[in-house]
Amino acid sequence: MTHFHTIRDLDLKGKIVLLRADLNVPAQGGKVTDTTRIDRLKPTIDYLCNAGARILILSHFGRPEGQRNPAMSLEFLPPILKQCWGHPVRFATDCIGGPAQNMAAEIKDGDIALLENVRFHKEETANDPEFCKQLAALGDVYINDAFSASHRAHASTEGLAHLLPCAAGLLMEEELNALNKALETPQKPVVAIAGGSKISTKLGVLYNLIDRVDYLVLGGGMANTFLHATGAEMGASLCEKDMAGEARKIIEHAQKKGCEIVLPADSIIVEDLHENADFKIAPSMNIPDGYSAIDVGPESLKELENILKNCKTLLWNGPLGVFEIKPFDKGTNALAEITATLTQQGKLISVAGGGDTVAALENSGQITKLSYVSTAGGAFLEWLQGKTLPGVAALSNDRRAA
Ligand code: 3PG
Repeated sequence: MTHFHTIRDLDLKGKIVLLRADLNVPAQGGKVTDTTRIDRLKPTIDYLCNAGARILILSHFGRPEGQRNPAMSLEFLPPILKQCWGHPVRFATDCIGGPAQNMAAEIKDGDIALLENVRFHKEETANDPEFCKQLAALGDVYINDAFSASHRAHASTEGLAHLLPCAAGLLMEEELNALNKALETPQKPVVAIAGGSKISTKLGVLYNLIDRVDYLVLGGGMANTFLHATGAEMGASLCEKDMAGEARKIIEHAQKKGCEIVLPADSIIVEDLHENADFKIAPSMNIPDGYSAIDVGPESLKELENILKNCKTLLWNGPLGVFEIKPFDKGTNALAEITATLTQQGKLISVAGGGDTVAALENSGQITKLSYVSTAGGAFLEWLQGKTLPGVAALSNDRRAA
């Protein structure tokens, strides 16, 4: 694991802190539809305000590709940030140049200002050295509290760490600790659950998990591809037939590594997928023509429960079925409930993450009962592949903030 300083190691009184946050939040018509990412930044914001720091927040919002795009402006956010954090937040119309410099000169100890979308400058994603210098000139200290953006080697996530004393924010620290507990130094046995539609996008994840866990439970379309590869009749199920050879290689690799791959024994099947569609239960090896497997069945859930009861750590990415269409969220919801119960009983450390997974857990009503749920999407998947995230690695560069 990368070693880095945290904000607790720094004397921040009167210092201008460039705080990289991930305010790439889901929004519609000027309203934030899920404030989780904002809420989770509150401990860092409180800490910095109490320490007397002057906070300039850097963030991206969407992918404006180096163009100033009003639809991707962060200007609508300060009132929402104030509501979530309980501190007023000012706004500067650019993250470099006059507006940013004036704001840096004006803010007082404990003040917070949000700077406009860093991706309005193409130099941000290019990690341009001159742009990094312009950002760095605004402040005294760089703090990265955006794990979910740290798979990007951009100026505000990576470049700045080479130019200023740097440290991880409290959210970054919490996230890295939770994730490391699940994958680097887990209590064994460990089970990983990988769901979602395609194995082609998750090959790196599957190989890395097999090397580290005792059970790998597959769900969703991914399970269909593996079932097909082992000779099952999959009917009209979503299935990557051209990945059968790859799936067989993965099964062989798991056998060598002593990792048990668990495929669903039974499936919920439908002829026509829509809300409240008629469904049947079928053995997963034998899905009739014209039918699609769209969720795990009761027998599979029993087996899953037994595995979870036998394990001390769970790592979960991806739903087990088409959770967006009711009642085919049942399998994912049941798994969330079993996980929540075992976690609350102190028998299981449960860590989940990834865009779909967070939505599925929210839908289940169990999200707050897991040990840790990461709101990171791409960053969580790269971490699951065992990759070092550039924004996290850069924090260990710091030699001045000790
Ligand atoms: C996310 O929402 O996953 C992060 O903010 C990263 O966004 P990006 O994929 O546009 O870099």
